[in-house]
This record gives sequence, structure tokens and C-alpha cells, in this order.
Amino acid sequence: MQVVIDRFDDLGRGIGIVNNKVTFVPNTVPGDVVEITLVKNLKKYNVGKVDKYITLSENRVKPMCQYFGTCGGCALQSISYKNTLNFKVNKVINLFKKNKIDITPEMISNPHPYNYRNKISLKVVDKIMGYYESNTHNIIEINECIIANTAINKTISLIKKFNIINGNVIIRCNKNAEILIIIESNDELYIDINDIKRQIKLVGIVINDKTYYGDNFLIENINDLFYKITYNSFFQVNHYVASTLFNLVSKYIKEKDIVLDLYSGVGTLSLVAASKAHEVIGVEIVENAVFNAMFNARINKINNVKFLLNDSTKAITKLNKKFTKVIVDPPRSGLTKVVIDNILKINPKEIIYVSCDPATLVRDVLLLRDKYAIEKAYVLDMFSYSYHTESLIILRRLK
Ligand SMILES: C[S@@+](CC[C@H](N)C(=O)[O-])C[C@H]1O[C@@H](n2cnc3c(N)ncnc32)[C@H](O)[C@@H]1O
Repeated sequence: MQVVIDRFDDLGRGIGIVNNKVTFVPNTVPGDVVEITLVKNLKKYNVGKVDKYITLSENRVKPMCQYFGTCGGCALQSISYKNTLNFKVNKVINLFKKNKIDITPEMISNPHPYNYRNKISLKVVDKIMGYYESNTHNIIEINECIIANTAINKTISLIKKFNIINGNVIIRCNKNAEILIIIESNDELYIDINDIKRQIKLVGIVINDKTYYGDNFLIENINDLFYKITYNSFFQVNHYVASTLFNLVSKYIKEKDIVLDLYSGVGTLSLVAASKAHEVIGVEIVENAVFNAMFNARINKINNVKFLLNDSTKAITKLNKKFTKVIVDPPRSGLTKVVIDNILKINPKEIIYVSCDPATLVRDVLLLRDKYAIEKAYVLDMFSYSYHTESLIILRRLK
């Protein structure tokens, strides 16, 4: 049957109407006319598979990536970069609108929408190393990923010589193209360090949580601060947009502020805040990240900050300081009800909410809404060409 694709869903799949039912059609863009077969025919919606493109939308551009369409990664490569930004900002606006909240976010673009990622995670199954094919558990072999830093791409072919049969590989790098390789595998590996070092700036290799070669961390520099990042500590994947995010957060911190930074990672936003505020407490659940954060405070000569190794949900019930601002930057699952209830008890003047999932962001904002209004919203293109979005929302206490 023939379908006209008229919009994207939140995952960047085209949507058309078949028999009065919403029909999701992967690998299409608004404006396409396609011949499809229904692969799912459910009560509320259909899923279709393209058999033939009848008319291609004028919004289409040629995807830069050779794996586009099979790789489950970047859903938005067949539209222009400008249109990917429109997709993201509208996605966030519409999620809020569905809950009767109007926002007009400022869109922060990525100055390097290709080769920006400082971390990729690859799966190895039966010697094939790559990413998951979209919507399956099949692996498609990849030789390069056009959104990854070029130093990471150079490393992929070197790791292919390690003889990994099954396992997981993470490649991380910093702005100086220094590389950290992290492997989980029970196979007997063949690693020629000298060969690797001739070709990339190898800092270390970690195998099954043990340092096999060199260091188990990288040092990164964003704006005027330095961060030690151990192999299993979180760090923003895009240093260009992270730099803007950190500057935006800094803008909302004042000299007299006492700041609580929940989900503090290696201390990034805590240190950004502490550079201006009176005092900061960070809370983070990953032990290495907390050690990194304490070290990072020392190397940056910042001494008005403390870090707690704890679950934010537990820590917040025990903190009885008069915090004037609370920063939260949770994983995609967002905040727990306990965290929200306790933020309301703390009653800070402002809540600075950094979110990598607008759906949980809206859910949480609704619970804060009786006491807080959105003063400013930003959507940041941290994850260019994927459907993921980063948001920063400043919530101000109602008088
Ligand atoms: C999105 S990252 C933000 C880190 C930091 N703000 C940054 O920008 O680098 C979320 C962090 O929350 C931590 N985390 C996850 N669940 C947590 C919890 N229940 N309590 C405290 N930290 C948690 C993760 O380990 C991760 O470091």
C-alpha cells in the first residue's frame, strides 16, 4: 500500500496514516511517498517496512554514513543538519505542550556535528565487531563511525587485530586524541602495544576492569578546568557542546550560592559552580567518579566543594544545609519521587535541571510545577544526528 509520510515520531521514524491508524515507517522522512508492507498491525498503531520509494521528499539529503539505514545509531542522517535541530527543538516543545506547558527553548547547535563523540561502545559477536542493527540483536560490522572522533576511528582497525571473539569494547578519547581502550572479554587476546603506539596516542588498555597497559584514565580539559576521568566514570560525550553547557550552568550561579549538585559524575558541574559559589556539595553513586571528582577539585585548586559517594535518593534525605540552588543531571530515568519531594523541602531559589531525556524531564517538571516556574529552557545538540536531545531547564521558585 502507498503512504504519504507527514512527520517524524520522537525516535526519528517517519509517520503516515494507514486505515486511519498511525503507521511508523523507519527509513522515511516527512514528504516521502512510499510503498510499504505492514510488519505490525496492532490495535493502536501499525509499523511498516518500505518496499519502494515512490517520491523522495525534498527535505532529503544524502546520508554521509555508509551504514545508515542498517545501523541503529543515527536516525536523522537523511535530513539536513538544520532540520535535525528543528526536529529536536520541536520534540521538546511538543512534549511540554502535551502537558500544557509552553516553552520556547534556545537551540544550541553543535559546531562539529560529525566526528564529535569521545566515546563509542562496540559489541563483538563471533569475531564481528560493530553496532547493533536497528531493532535487532544482529551486529553490523563497522570500520568507522562518522560521529566518532577520528582518533577513535583509527583505533577500531587496531582493535580488530586483538582477536576478540566475543565481548564488549569501549573506546574513549580526549580533545588531544589520546585513547583509552576498555575491553570485556574472556578470550585470549593478541595485543601488540608497539604497533598500536606507532599509530595512535594510546594512554591505556583496561581488560575486565584491570589495567593491562598504561593508565586507566584520561585527562580532559573543558573551558578552564581539568578533569580526570577513570575508565568507568561518566563524561559528556561531546566536548564542544559540553563546553557551552558548562558555561550556561555557570551563568546561573552567584557568589553567595550554596549549591547541591546531584548526579555529579567526575565533578564537572560541581566544579563549574564552585568556581563562583560559596560552597558546593556533589553526590554521585559511582566510586571511581567520586574519587575523580575529589582529585579534580585538588588539581583545579578548588576547595569549597565536597563530594559524597551515595545514591542521590538516599543522600538527599540526610542533607540539612540551606541550599540556594540545586543542580540535577540524572541519567535518562530522571529523578525519583523521593529526590523531587526533598528538593521541594529544601526549597532552593533555583533548580538547574540538565536532562538527556525530555520525557522524564517533563514528568519531573510537572511534579515541581506548583512551586517552580520555567525561567529559561535550552535544547543542546549534544548527540548530533541521533534522535537524542540534551536539555537545560532553569526553574525559579514562585514567590
Ligand atoms: C548524566 S551523568 C551527569 C554527570 C555530570 N553532571 C556531568 O555532566 O559530567 C549522570 C551521573 O549520575 C550518576 N548516577 C546514576 N544514578 C545515580 C544515583 N542514583 N545517585 C547518584 N548518582 C547517580 C552516574 O554515575 C553519572 O555519573
